[in-house]
Amino acid sequence: MSRKPPIRHSSPPLTKNANPGRWEGKAKPDWLARAIARAGVMPQEEAQEAIQAGRVTVNGRVVKQPLSPVPSGATVRVDGAALPMAAPTRVLAFHKPAELLTSTVRQHRVGTVYEVLLPQLSSDLARFTWHAVGRLDRGTTGLLLFTNDEKLLAHVTSPETGLPKRYVATVFSDADEEKVEPLRQGLKLEDGDGPIRPAQVKLRDVHTVEVTITEGRNHQVKRMLGAVGLPVRALHREAVGGVELDVAESAFRLLTDAEVAQGLGYPPAGAPG
Ligand code: URA
Repeated sequence: MSRKPPIRHSSPPLTKNANPGRWEGKAKPDWLARAIARAGVMPQEEAQEAIQAGRVTVNGRVVKQPLSPVPSGATVRVDGAALPMAAPTRVLAFHKPAELLTSTVRQHRVGTVYEVLLPQLSSDLARFTWHAVGRLDRGTTGLLLFTNDEKLLAHVTSPETGLPKRYVATVFSDADEEKVEPLRQGLKLEDGDGPIRPAQVKLRDVHTVEVTITEGRNHQVKRMLGAVGLPVRALHREAVGGVELDVAESAFRLLTDAEVAQGLGYPPAGAPG
């Protein structure tokens, strides 16, 4: 008599990267702590604590594992209150001062943009998890967007979207049209990072160069100007898409839905609502 192999009941390990092909062709489920943070109920760290404390149910059952996937259509309750179906997309325009690091939200906050931004948020905004949209170097000042919506983050930072980012650089040497022309043509940097897309460049004066780029590579503007003999002394971002910096240093403001739609082209036409 042949013995049947035992039926295995164990689930795959609940890590973020477990079996990445598993959701191909299906909507990928969110993991529990992130779903709660995305819904704007509380920041992710607090959500993890709430889950571990047994305050969260999924379809009526207590789940204590923050990385549990949330099946689509599931009802998640925190302290008995059901999560709103979809969190609204929110975007903050922050004026980054020099000497602050653009970190990810989970990194240590001292000396980062979060140290200055988060204490200013009203309780209405503080309940979201805020992601910096791209990054500015420590010494770079100007417009840095934050959002609670990771899809918006991907949209704004993707080179495919090609959203223009306008910078103004103060340069050490004298700039002239001949020097900046290669930036308009599209530069090939010597560091093997592939060709840089053509940029819009305007000379505001002999030491002030406006550069508009549609990608966001590491230290891109400094590397571009450095490559044409114009090392950068100071760099400031004035605009991202149609969103212009209009708040004082270290201050922020919440963008309206119309500004997000018109200025950032989000959600893109044809995206599910
Ligand atoms: N390009 C740079 O070189 N630095 C920044 O911070 C942003 C763009």
